[in-house]
Amino acid sequence: MAVKGQVISGEFGKIIVRQKHGETIELGELLIGTAGYDKVLMQAYDLSYGSQISRQNLELMSGMKMEQENDLEFYEPELRNYKLTMLKSVLVIKNNCKDAVSSKTLPDFFSFVSDVKKQDMRFFSEPKNPLSLGNLRSGSKVLDLDISVEGDKVLSEHILVPATTGRGKSNLTKCLIWNTIDKEYCAMLVLDPHDEYYGRNELGMKDHPEHKNVIYYSQNPPPGCMTLKINLRKILPWHFNGVASWTDAQSEAMSAYYKKYKEKWIEAVLFDKEVKGFMDGTLGVLKRRLLSLLNIDVNEGNTSMIGVSEGDKARISSKGVFSASSGESTVTDIVDSLEKARTVIIDTSGYSGSVEILIGSIISTEILNRYRSYKVKGSLDDKPVISIVLEEAPRVLGKEVLEKGSNIFATIAREGRKFKTGLYAITQLPSLIPRQILANMNTKIILGIEMAPERQAVIDSASQDLSDDNRNIASLDKGEAVVTSNFTKFAIPLKVPLFKRVVEKSQNEHNRNSYYSGATGEQSRAEGTAESKAETKVDSKADSKAKVFADSNAEKKDYPGIRFG
Ligand SMILES: Nc1ncnc2c1ncn2[C@@H]1O[C@H](COP(=O)(O)OP(=O)(O)O)[C@@H](O)[C@H]1O
Ligand SMILES: [Mg+2]
Repeated sequence: MAVKGQVISGEFGKIIVRQKHGETIELGELLIGTAGYDKVLMQAYDLSYGSQISRQNLELMSGMKMEQENDLEFYEPELRNYKLTMLKSVLVIKNNCKDAVSSKTLPDFFSFVSDVKKQDMRFFSEPKNPLSLGNLRSGSKVLDLDISVEGDKVLSEHILVPATTGRGKSNLTKCLIWNTIDKEYCAMLVLDPHDEYYGRNELGMKDHPEHKNVIYYSQNPPPGCMTLKINLRKILPWHFNGVASWTDAQSEAMSAYYKKYKEKWIEAVLFDKEVKGFMDGTLGVLKRRLLSLLNIDVNEGNTSMIGVSEGDKARISSKGVFSASSGESTVTDIVDSLEKARTVIIDTSGYSGSVEILIGSIISTEILNRYRSYKVKGSLDDKPVISIVLEEAPRVLGKEVLEKGSNIFATIAREGRKFKTGLYAITQLPSLIPRQILANMNTKIILGIEMAPERQAVIDSASQDLSDDNRNIASLDKGEAVVTSNFTKFAIPLKVPLFKRVVEKSQNEHNRNSYYSGATGEQSRAEGTAESKAETKVDSKADSKAKVFADSNAEKKDYPGIRFG
């Protein structure tokens, strides 16, 4: 045990340790102390100087040294001057490091504290459905200990990723999506306004060994991927909640159109079909707004006042995602894929923010409706958790937006967990999200946050007491994070790996697995019976291929998680 300091005074929550001369303790560093037979896990949250010499004397000595260039030295400097570290006690580790409980005691007075070691953390048990977040970090040191959380629970009870730009939100999100691609317990719907996750021109989800589980929609898709088209008849009036704000009269007109024309309501608005009780002005504005929001054109001409005809439909031309003539099954297909635990990435980079949110709103409403009905039927347990990745979350979860009315994302934030539907909300400005919603996001992966009010909003709504961690969060470097969650025993400092490394690691692992299962195929062929030896060469090749495939599948079942670290 390398001693790093000694407990010399303090109180619960503020244990003062004198640092050993020559050792450094960083902000956020984890340290191990002793309390009787148990160990105490502590974390540094503040640092200061201490000296046996009075301040006045120190000032005088400094003056003599600097001003008179005197080569004055301290007598036994390592005894007289030192650094002090303020620690908070986080957990008591018991039972040969196999159990940990929240800390209710102080470490022994005058006991030594030392570096945390991997073997001190044996109480981290492997979750049933592991989702790896990164490695345990102590200050800026990274430990060889993978931190995995219970993936299905964490995803269904929402994840918030708050951080200043450039601190690694996208990198973290890439790693997490990657780690879920081969998992049966969850699916991800990724609304991607920067087109950065599929990896069209760089490393991305397309490079995953199980890339067949990744479905990519885009306006101009690469070969083999889907063009995003959504039929107008799939859009319902309430899909616009959170997308655009309407006057009361406009909302009522939309409802009246829907009531009368059902799924053809947008066509009815566009061709001025009859609906009673609204001023022409209102209907005109509604029509213009829909045309511009949906990015469509209509070829005006003689049409009847009532009923939407096929002729009307043919006059609508699509300039973007929404179309009168195609995309009937897109939403159904997407949600079908999600139900099969696939990852669906939608490149929304070519669209305005409102169109992106409208697309998200249509699909999310379908997800929640289906999962609600599965719950009623009792079949929800067999379905994967669906997590919806949302950039710039305050666009739909912000106080200002919600004051004008709720939307599907706020509904999911409030009650999605009952229906195995969660949000993965990314933001630079968590303070814009109402406290109640922040508090509902039961896991927060906090990367560096520069602005104090943003830090405060996260600290105030964290699952663990982070009131002493303000400085610690401010000083987080790229990829350094603190995870606070209802599903972790303490606020875990971690280092998110660089996405490139995660890709390399799982591709290597995949190649290794294929190699070994390939060898098994060869071997079994060599040991085959006379009958199988009698088979033609072509056949036996086909056989061994089938075998390799079956083997590599078996491997995957045995080792459900890609582990790194
Ligand atoms: N875990 C990490 N380790 C090391 N460097 C990182 C890590 N995450 C991000 N970075 C660096 O920071 C840059 C910005 O990261 P990015 O994920 O795009 O941030 P954000 O999405 O928050 O703006 C990346 O290009 C990368 O070089
Ligand atoms: Mg980003």
